[in-house]
Amino acid sequence: MAEAICLFTKGTIIIKSPKKSPVFLRMIVLVFAMVCGVYICSVCLNQTNFGTTSKLLNVEINKRHCCDYEVDRSQTPYAHYPKPETFSRAECACNPVRYFATFSMQRSGSGWFETLLNSHTNVSSNGEIFSVKERRNNVTSKLTTLDRVYNLDWFTSASKNQCSAAVGFKWMLNQGLMENHKEIVQYFDNRGVSVIFLFRRNLLRRMVSVLANSFDRYAKLLNGTHKSHVHSLEEADNPFKI
Ligand SMILES: *[C@@H]1O[C@H](CO)[C@@H](O)[C@H](O)[C@H]1NC(C)=O
Ligand SMILES: *[C@@H]1O[C@H](CO)[C@@H](O)[C@H](O)[C@H]1NC(C)=O
Ligand SMILES: *[C@@H]1O[C@H](CO)[C@@H](O)[C@H](O)[C@H]1NC(C)=O
Repeated sequence: MAEAICLFTKGTIIIKSPKKSPVFLRMIVLVFAMVCGVYICSVCLNQTNFGTTSKLLNVEINKRHCCDYEVDRSQTPYAHYPKPETFSRAECACNPVRYFATFSMQRSGSGWFETLLNSHTNVSSNGEIFSVKERRNNVTSKLTTLDRVYNLDWFTSASKNQCSAAVGFKWMLNQGLMENHKEIVQYFDNRGVSVIFLFRRNLLRRMVSVLANSFDRYAKLLNGTHKSHVHSLEEADNPFKI
């Protein structure tokens, strides 16, 4: 009986289906297989991409998490949350960082000022980074250097830990600053960098001090008594000392 039913059903199929149907069915199966294949491939790709997407999600979360509720609204343009490439800011990722640059000329007290800034645990002023000629060859190399400094990826003895709250450096006016001043001002405006202009009021004293400094450089006094530096309170108070 069972065989008869089978035969009967086979017979009905053969009878009912039109002649072109096997090709049509095959096409449907092929299309179905292709769709399945594409779907499986896309699932695989998604899985391999999982690492990067989760990173992106983390960044998003970080960004949202760092909404500076505690920071005064007027300070928002100056509070930054850099993400260094060379290390992680860890628990301080949400501490705002301020960017600054000290513009000055030689013998204006900028060294003293920088030492003062660096004496704070959370402040790092990286010195005259543009004294090296390669870094000020052209605008591109200047801006790349600035990017690294403000992304906290610049390492000098002044660099602090991941909890830096202010980062900057000293830029002498004769170290490639004036040549590209327009681009630099625009960069500082875009990135919210504060500029400290350190100016020695008595220009004559500055010039005499420059001469004394060059004397010291060539004389190379080993006993530590420099013409361009004072060594005692009396010398500091003496208006004729440079
Ligand atoms: C800028 O200077 C750097 C070297 O400091 C050099 O590699 C680069 O090619 C220069 N770019 C242009 C546009 O001159
Ligand atoms: C300053 O640094 C210390 C650790 O070095 C950190 O605990 C503190 O939160 C930092 N302060 C600011 C304002 O970032
Ligand atoms: C330091 O050395 C210079 C010459 O080398 C000398 O004129 C000067 O008196 C010395 N100063 C002290 C404090 O020894």
